Amino acid sequence: MALHEMMNYSQLFLEIFNELQQIEDRGRVADYIPELAHINPDHFGVHLTTIDGRQYAFGDSEVRFSIQSIAKVFTFVLAYSRVKSNIWERMDMEPAGTPFNSLIQLEYDRGIPRNPFINAGSMVVCDILADQLASPRENVLAFIRSLSRNSTVDYNPIVAHSEKRSGFRNYALVNLMKSFGNIRNEIDKVMDLYFSICSLEMSCRELSESFLFLANNGIVPHSGESILSPSRTKRTNALMQTCGFYDEAGQFTFKVGLPGKSGVGGGIVAVHPGKYAIAVWSPRLNKKGNSYKGMLFLEEFTTRTKLSIF
Ligand code: DON
Repeated sequence: MALHEMMNYSQLFLEIFNELQQIEDRGRVADYIPELAHINPDHFGVHLTTIDGRQYAFGDSEVRFSIQSIAKVFTFVLAYSRVKSNIWERMDMEPAGTPFNSLIQLEYDRGIPRNPFINAGSMVVCDILADQLASPRENVLAFIRSLSRNSTVDYNPIVAHSEKRSGFRNYALVNLMKSFGNIRNEIDKVMDLYFSICSLEMSCRELSESFLFLANNGIVPHSGESILSPSRTKRTNALMQTCGFYDEAGQFTFKVGLPGKSGVGGGIVAVHPGKYAIAVWSPRLNKKGNSYKGMLFLEEFTTRTKLSIF
């Protein structure tokens, strides 16, 4: 049975939202990036897009927010689709089991990050893109604009600057990797790209549409454009499943059961291969840096619809 024949998901979104309103949101908005602390914590949006083009939305699904680490998937996919050399010599494909900005493992592993979705791994991806692309900042933006079918998607320079001024731990990570020879470009060049991609602003609708190729064997459903081979799409989804939620990847798999990626702006995107992509946004974060209500919402959604991959 096709997905859309089964249920009106917008109605289900409303029901789950109302039920979650009854429980206390124990999350806190990210304030370690000063500019993110200004967000209204009560925003809530969700948008689901099916590979056959159905759209279901609720709440602030059209409001753009800071996608932060969700952008790590876009840059990884761009590097993975372009780079001929073996990127796995410069980063691993294992869950970190540590917070997204932890320094501990990098020293043991001589500057090789555990995976491309922790901060250090994404900095290596930025370094690779800085080598491969003529104008990395512009090229990455053009890639994301084309995936989202919206030419107004943009970086937020105020957020990027705010993070740059307070990004001491990120500079520690990149310097440590440089000391081991795993960063080839100038630190500023890599970090300008890193802080820029983290500052990207997109809505739940734009995110769910942009991730849809990962639910469709690497092909954008509406245009037929191939972004990644089926094999690399499978691997990207596997990485999101095992590494997309840092030291909470097990919990997300256990409760939601979809490959996905979170960001400290409170967004989560998840995909069901062969079926749909869904994005949810609620700015208050749990202790691991993932959206508190966003996770609960997706858990309820996949449990009630049985639309998890497990
Ligand atoms: O580098 C940072 O700390 C942020 N720009 C991104 C962190 C993030 O979103 C991790 N996510 N859950």
